[in-house]
Amino acid sequence: MDLKRLAAERAVEYVKDGMKVGLGTGSTAYWAIQRLGERVKNEGLQIETVATSQASEDQARELGIPLVPFSEIGRLDITIDGADEVDGRLNLIKGGGGALLREKIVAMNSRRLVIVVDESKVVHTLGKFPLPVEIVPFACEWTYHALDQMGCHPAWRMNGSEKYKTDNGNYIADCKLGRISDAEALNQKLNMIPGVVDNGLFVDMADTIVVAHADGTIEIKR
Ligand code: A5P
Repeated sequence: MDLKRLAAERAVEYVKDGMKVGLGTGSTAYWAIQRLGERVKNEGLQIETVATSQASEDQARELGIPLVPFSEIGRLDITIDGADEVDGRLNLIKGGGGALLREKIVAMNSRRLVIVVDESKVVHTLGKFPLPVEIVPFACEWTYHALDQMGCHPAWRMNGSEKYKTDNGNYIADCKLGRISDAEALNQKLNMIPGVVDNGLFVDMADTIVVAHADGTIEIKR
């Protein structure tokens, strides 16, 4: 079985009747949403959900999973989402799919953040995966320059010949950092730059990591 699917389906076991659930984004979160849809349909699982992207919202709606606007749902019991990298302290890089801002807001509003990954995402030190930084369009070249001056080696994420646009209408610069020795400090430093909306470092946010290994076993990290 697909490892992303294996991890995602296992994480969905944490969802119980009556819970308010955050739906992640990406090819791993996709499988979690599919499984939730099956449970809603087959078991009559009663949940309310909020999505972290238009794509996840569309998928949930199609599966008949009840969606509630963020402003009305209150505190979430659990969010299930993917990640691009996970280190030994359960810090993450997210945003490969471009949904980092909504993902971080939804995660911050959740009692429990469960991250589902295949074993290829588990690293000793974050930074091999380029760190996504979301930038407002106004003066974006200035902001990009500021990242460059900081030594972040940014590159605009592109969609054909146009800059990629997030669901929030912003741009993303992917920063090739190589090795992030202090994720907390970098997170704060990046978010101090005017024009940066947020970045893909999720520091001290994940509660549980569900890792699917190539031999089909599942490891739970807490
Ligand atoms: C979406 O913006 C991301 O944060 C994803 O959660 C992350 O990129 C993992 O994506 P995959 O599950 O597709 O690898």
